[in-house]
Amino acid sequence: MALYVNAAEILEKAEKKQGALKTLVYDSKFPNIKQLFALVCETHRFSSVLQKIIESTKLLKQTKMKMPLAKVLVYDLVMGRGLKCGGSWKTMMMKHRSRLQAELARMKVKQKVSRHEDLLPASVQQLTGDRLPRYVRVNTLKTTVEDAVDYLKRDGFSYLGQASGPDDLPLKQKDFVRDQHLPELLVFSPRADFHDHFLYKAGHIILQDKASCLPAYLLNPPPGSHVIDACAAPGNKTSHLAAIMKNKGRLFAFDLDAKRLATMSTLLLRAGVTCQQLANQDFLKVDPDSLQYKDVEYILLDPSCSGSGMVCLRDSTSADQEKDQARLASLASFQLRCLNHGLRFPHLKRLVYSTCSVHSQENEEVITACLQQNPGFRLVPLLAQWPERGLEPLTQCLRASTTKTRTHGFFVALLEKHSEPGITKQEPAVQIRPEVKTPSPPVSEERPAAIDEGSEASEMEDKPSPAAGQTDFTAGKKKRKRRKKKKKAAATME
Ligand SMILES: C[S@@+](CC[C@H](N)C(=O)[O-])C[C@H]1O[C@@H](n2cnc3c(N)ncnc32)[C@H](O)[C@@H]1O
Repeated sequence: MALYVNAAEILEKAEKKQGALKTLVYDSKFPNIKQLFALVCETHRFSSVLQKIIESTKLLKQTKMKMPLAKVLVYDLVMGRGLKCGGSWKTMMMKHRSRLQAELARMKVKQKVSRHEDLLPASVQQLTGDRLPRYVRVNTLKTTVEDAVDYLKRDGFSYLGQASGPDDLPLKQKDFVRDQHLPELLVFSPRADFHDHFLYKAGHIILQDKASCLPAYLLNPPPGSHVIDACAAPGNKTSHLAAIMKNKGRLFAFDLDAKRLATMSTLLLRAGVTCQQLANQDFLKVDPDSLQYKDVEYILLDPSCSGSGMVCLRDSTSADQEKDQARLASLASFQLRCLNHGLRFPHLKRLVYSTCSVHSQENEEVITACLQQNPGFRLVPLLAQWPERGLEPLTQCLRASTTKTRTHGFFVALLEKHSEPGITKQEPAVQIRPEVKTPSPPVSEERPAAIDEGSEASEMEDKPSPAAGQTDFTAGKKKRKRRKKKKKAAATME
């Protein structure tokens, strides 16, 4: 029953705008955060429908329950996967089950719809994730895309080949395609559910939103490399990194939250990850000069954020705008500290930064401040054909949204160390527009920002590629430096 009591308290606070849903869920310290989060999100989403059912059936009067508790219980009883409690609560709710189900059915008949989602007001339907495709990442540590596709075809799904664009979506319930941008991603109808599927239970597929697959894909650490996942739990991006690294090399994963780390350990085991070293540690306290991290060249930083891009959290700002702003400022300051810390690792080549936030304070503003404070790094232009860019002038970065990319709201930036520290003073890394416009191929035409479907995770990542606009300048500078060196050597020999 603790699940429903916690969920009801959170729902009540969220509906009174006393805090953001995500924060309230995390603050509850409930042992199964994921379960609580899912229940609160869905109940929040269907709140207006549930209220109607409860009012029409006079449930509150008959049970003496309060509305928030009634909503979470009714949600699980008639729309979710059934009540997860026993005892007197369950007995009481079961008594009312047929009346509640009948009321839900009556509402559907009246509105001439068949799905629960269709009962939501149009404005809510557009905001929520019920129209988002179900993305499935094939775990290449356990299988291949081809084998997964074959298995799914034998299991009754129809494979339609590679998607050519968002117009190919939405899909019919049993149809699926290969994603247009990410080669290991399969795309299904929003209604496809794999939680009980063999491929999911065996770790052959990972249920992961498309946008959330971008960071590891873009970082693309080669097999054998040393990599840090700074804020790693629950570990979907860690397992993706391990797959790209083919389990070869070392993957240091940190997280402050011991419980989330324990969940992550189970997830990694199921996914067949073996190259990881998990630590329940504050990333900000990890010593970049420690010998064990001397070979770290790649960092994935996906720090805590407001979660404002996650569709069910869209309307979860509090009534107090000042409080919201203070919270955003505090998150941004933490994110910047994590970024600055990550860039201190002496052999770092690339760092990918991501958030599931739509606020520029946590995205472009953090990156701009970081680049100003770290002139030895610059932005790598990412995926030329990705439809949504970072806000001007940070157009090398990617944004994602329900409308343009059919994903949750997301932000990704890839930072790269300059090949020559000497050039940094003359060419500040934040001047990015000219780089994008130059005719030289941007890094996005190569791995790791590669877009070619079917391209293998390759070793090209090893070479830090200068941003296009700086290529000539760097080359000229290199030549001058080489000439100087030769002259010096000649003089020494003489
Ligand atoms: C957005 S979640 C990471 C999600 C994860 N990358 C994934 O894809 O599954 C942020 C995580 O950062 C952790 N965290 C917050 N502050 C931290 C710190 N100072 N050091 C390490 N981890 C931290 C939180 O516990 C949380 O698990």
